[in-house]
Order: sequence, then structure tokens, then C-alpha cells
Amino acid sequence: MHREMAKGVYYVGVDDHHTELFENLWKIPFGVSYNSYLIVDEKTALIETVKDPWSKEWLDNIGEIIDPKDIDYIILNHMEPDHTSSLPDIAELAPNATLIFTERASDMQKSFYGLSLKEKVVEDLEELSLGNKTLKFVHTPFLHWPETMMTYIMEDEVLFSCDAFGTFGALNGKVFDDEIDMRMVESESRRYLSSIITTYFKFVQRGIAKIKDLGIGVKMVAPSHGPIFRKDPMWIVNKYDEWTHPELEKYVTIVYGSMYGFTHRLALKLKSELLKLGVEVKIHNISYTDMSTVLVDAVRPSVLVVGAPTYDAHPFPKIWTFANEVQGKRIPVKKVALFGTYGWGGGGVKKLQKMFEEMKFEILEPVIRVKARPSEEESQQIVALAKNIAEHVK
Ligand code: FEO
Repeated sequence: MHREMAKGVYYVGVDDHHTELFENLWKIPFGVSYNSYLIVDEKTALIETVKDPWSKEWLDNIGEIIDPKDIDYIILNHMEPDHTSSLPDIAELAPNATLIFTERASDMQKSFYGLSLKEKVVEDLEELSLGNKTLKFVHTPFLHWPETMMTYIMEDEVLFSCDAFGTFGALNGKVFDDEIDMRMVESESRRYLSSIITTYFKFVQRGIAKIKDLGIGVKMVAPSHGPIFRKDPMWIVNKYDEWTHPELEKYVTIVYGSMYGFTHRLALKLKSELLKLGVEVKIHNISYTDMSTVLVDAVRPSVLVVGAPTYDAHPFPKIWTFANEVQGKRIPVKKVALFGTYGWGGGGVKKLQKMFEEMKFEILEPVIRVKARPSEEESQQIVALAKNIAEHVK
């Protein structure tokens, strides 16, 4: 299936309803799309390929419009294999095509696929005429990898933004924002952003600023995952801007694990005390919520609160994994509160504290370590912690 976006510009992407975890990490219960685009002018340009199990369907989509051997340019905005693993298939059908990408992408192509197609490395803001349409290439490093760029059709004002402004969720033939439920797009784009792009928030800000500084019109934002925005192209740009803004949001997120309910009790007591103080609280039991959903609320609160029982002298394993995500994603949050329970040794909270100290978080007092069931006195520590947290949210 293909869809025409503008005269001579087509969506030729595919839906993935088979993969359970994107990057083998993040749940995608509504699937995901791998978007690819075809521009037919005096010269023909293909933008992105797709993940290889969907190669045949994608080639069929292209074949509905042109013979693949007539492709002049294959534009690779980003080399991650969800966008390039079908490259060897199209290379076989279009051996005279020229690959267009950044210098770093050229290096990656050689190590990923070793193809000997002609290639043209494009500089930032370089232009390429296809006949009636002109492409401009905008380097946007770390959206999502260092080699990434965007491609823009100057006459049609269509911005092919690759991973930036992307969304989880298959499209099922409805490829435009005016054809789908935007509430779903809002939640799935934020989950996608928090899972995939959190480490690169400052690059999202830089990329958006760069596009705005170029002063170009944008009638359509066409990412490589999720819908094409034509009704309100700046909607997704503004959402990404808001969700990556350096100023944190005024709520507290509690992420905790619990084996037999003791840490759970502390979490609920803390939530209750914070609510009494008028603080907005988001709370996740790590055992029941997918990490991608936890991250949506954990990457930008004013204060992050982490609770864990001790398990094998370490924090509850799923919380340990969460703490490692916090470290790897370098979330912009800088204040953390910690609590937990233990049966005898009690290394869980101590190890969390050491880890957050190494990450240069400000640890809000008191750090609460309770032997099994919290006493009345220990419950009062939660009241004190809530008061301290509330001061830091104001
Ligand atoms: Fe959709 Fe970074 O690849």
C-alpha cells in the first residue's frame, strides 16, 4: 500500500505488528511503523528503507509506483537497522542508485552492510535538485545517532525528520494526523521519546532551534515512525520541544518495587503525605509497569523518589535495572529521595544511595531504611521526607 502526500511524493512504509519489544527493550502493544518515502521527479529519490523482515511488502509498495531499478538516489537519514536493514535488498534491485548520507553514515554503511553502491556525502544544508523539486539536507546529530540528518523538500515544504518527531504505533493505512486518534499519538509519541531519545534531549532542543532558525516553511512533518503531520505539522514539534525542555515539571514521581508489601506501604504513605501537602504525584510499581511507561514519568519530575527492598544484598532487581536506565539515559532530574526495607543485611538502599551519589544527584534527607514492617517512628520519617520533598517541588 502507498499513499500520496503531495504531487510526486509518496508514503511507502510498512507496519510491524510482530515485534514484541522495540530495540528488544520497549513494549509496543500497538505495533510500530517503519516509514519510507518516494519522491518521483526527473530524478527519483527513496528516503529510508525498512527493517528487513518487511522488505518484500515495502518493495511491493514501491513497485506500485515505479520500477525500483529507476531509483536514482537512496537517502539514508539515519543508519540504525530499523531504517537500513533492507538496504541490501534495494541495492540489488537498484544497482545504479547513489547513496546519500553524512560522512559518518558512509562509514557505518561500510561496516554494517559493505555495499559498493555509488555514494554522495552531503554537507550540512547542501541542496540537491531532482528536477522540479529541490532537497535540502539538514544535519541533526544525535537524533538519534551521531550520523543523523533530516531531508527537506523546499518546494513542497515537507520535512523528513527520521526518528525525531516519531511515534510508536502501527498506522494501519491511516498515515496522516487528520486520520487518527491524536490522544493515542500523544501518549505513544511521549513513550517513544522517553524510551529512545531521553539521552539526547538537548539535541532535540538544538534540532528544533536549528529548523526554526533556518526560517523554512513546514507544511508537513514526515518522521520515520508513526503518522505524518499535515493538519498541524508544528503540533508534534511543539510537543517534543515541551517534553525535552530543560525546565523540569512540577510533580514528584515515585518508582518502587516491593516483594511482600513493606516497601509498598512506605510508597503509599509517602504518596498520601505528598498529596496532603498539595504535591502532584505519579507512582509506579516497577513490577507491573513496563519500563517505557515508567520512564515517561521518571525523566522530568522535580524530584524522583526510588524505593526498593533489599534482594541478595542489592536493590530489588527491577529497581536496580531502573537505576541503571537513569544512569544510562542521563535524565535531567537532579534530586532524588530514597527509601526501602530489608530483612537482615539491608544493602539495597545503601547501594542505591551510592549510585545516585556517583551520578551527582542531590539526595534529599532523610534516606529511609526500615527493617521489615515500618514502626510508627519510621512512618514519621516518611512525613519528614514528604515535607522536604515538597519544599523542592515549589
Ligand atoms: Fe528508528 Fe534510531 O532508529
